[in-house]
Amino acid sequence: MIKTTVFSGLAALGLLVGGQALAAGDGEAHVTDYSFSFEGPFGSYDQAQLQRGLQVYTEVCAACHGLKFLSYRNLSDDGGPAMDEDQMRAYAAQFEVFDPELDDFRPATPTDKFGESALSNAPDLTLMAKARAGFHGPAGTGINQLVRGMGGPEYIASMLLGFTGHEEEQAGVVLYENTAYGGLMAMNPVLMPDLVEYEDGTPATEEQMAKDVSAFLMWTAEPKMMNRKAGGLTAVLFLTILTVLLYFTNKKLWAPHKGKEH
Ligand code: HEC
Repeated sequence: MIKTTVFSGLAALGLLVGGQALAAGDGEAHVTDYSFSFEGPFGSYDQAQLQRGLQVYTEVCAACHGLKFLSYRNLSDDGGPAMDEDQMRAYAAQFEVFDPELDDFRPATPTDKFGESALSNAPDLTLMAKARAGFHGPAGTGINQLVRGMGGPEYIASMLLGFTGHEEEQAGVVLYENTAYGGLMAMNPVLMPDLVEYEDGTPATEEQMAKDVSAFLMWTAEPKMMNRKAGGLTAVLFLTILTVLLYFTNKKLWAPHKGKEH
């Protein structure tokens, strides 16, 4: 019994280490612990930040990256960017989708999904914040996520800000050195100050844009994070009450036998 438990524990650790090693780039990676509104047990998404992040995605990242698992109508979800219905419809209508029934392109409607990546070697970003959740830490164990609550959004923001300016051509492809990726990557630096103009007047520094788009990508990867946290708190509360009740039940049940010799 103990043997099997120890064995499965080790196997799980092995899987973890293997999985994380795959996720992290090679070499020394550096990720900054940016703070986000959704951290901690009571944290929640900042609606204005998600809207700014959507703007950065739309104006910058969408040139190459898709969000194929996200529907336009999700932009109106509570707890998300919470766009009003008309805004969301207008946002969707800017894009065209191919409709096999019409055999032609038509403006996107709320139930359509954001498209796939426009550039074949640019990965889809919908779930990227979760895929990169356990980026590094000692031996790639993702220990930083556990201990310091750092995860995918910190990684993405650090990656966007982590270009050193050094580039190298390998087999006809230009690669860019990035400290968060931990080596050379195929994505070029995309952010520069005032690349977008935020409607809410927030100054569009590189760090601001990086954090906003990372928060937005955390939401695309885990739109129901608030529900999960609320569920967790309910469970803790419920178990606390249950513990108290069982304590008294236990006391009451054993009370007649207490203090007896046999
Ligand atoms: C000009 C095209 C282009 C643009 C614009 C672009 N990317 Fe990328 N991105 C790529 C390519 C290509 C890769 C694959 C890099 C690799 O694996 O070497 C990539 C990879 C990534 C990755 C995965 C890195 C990893 O750990 O594997 C993330 C996250 C990412 N991009 C986020 C963004 C965000 C956010 C934006 C907008 C601010 C953006 N990208 C804009 C081309 C682009």
